[in-house]
Amino acid sequence: MEIEPGVHLCRSYLDEAAQIALLREIEAVIARAPLFTPTMPRSGKPFSVRMTNCGPLGWVSDKAGGYRYQPLHPQTREPWPPIPPPLLEAWSALAAYPLPPQACLVNFYDPAARMGLHQDRDEADLCAPILSISLGADCRFRLGGSRRGDPSRAFALASGDALTLGGGARLRFHGVDRILPEIAPRLASPLFADGGRINLTLRRVG
Ligand code: SIN
Ligand code: FE2
Repeated sequence: MEIEPGVHLCRSYLDEAAQIALLREIEAVIARAPLFTPTMPRSGKPFSVRMTNCGPLGWVSDKAGGYRYQPLHPQTREPWPPIPPPLLEAWSALAAYPLPPQACLVNFYDPAARMGLHQDRDEADLCAPILSISLGADCRFRLGGSRRGDPSRAFALASGDALTLGGGARLRFHGVDRILPEIAPRLASPLFADGGRINLTLRRVG
């Protein structure tokens, strides 16, 4: 469903069985490419979100190098694991773009983590959408406009939901206000022992 021009929200795109299957794939990605805590350019302040990636390129950030894509995990120096097939299928079904994704950022939110409003603009290719898939606890997602001061609206994203920002919405500000208390039974995983949420964003880098 197109909730605003260029913003498509597909509720329960993955049913429970598909969410569990994808979670097993993400557990395997994290086993090979451990979650790390990125830090802000210049200030070096740590993000509250932990991250890893899969695909040919991964998004990283640290004090010295700033925001960037790179082919190696910053700690293991190994290539990122491949993007799991269910995510490639989701891209084919939802991205309406002829080329496959080059990067999948895996964001892990513990119950206290959040993400400030930002644009995804480290990609040279802005023709492809950003496709986001959520697993685990619900969050309060915030969608702003194309400029930082623009009005914003908030809505919940739940496990299995898919959201795309494309076309005129590709550079809209967005963030996560907070992780919501869990009402539905939690997806069983050591990753979610204390609750939490995973968000997967598939991108073309350029
Ligand atoms: C992101 O913007 O990288 C993540 C968005 C989300 O967690 O839903
Ligand atoms: Fe983002």
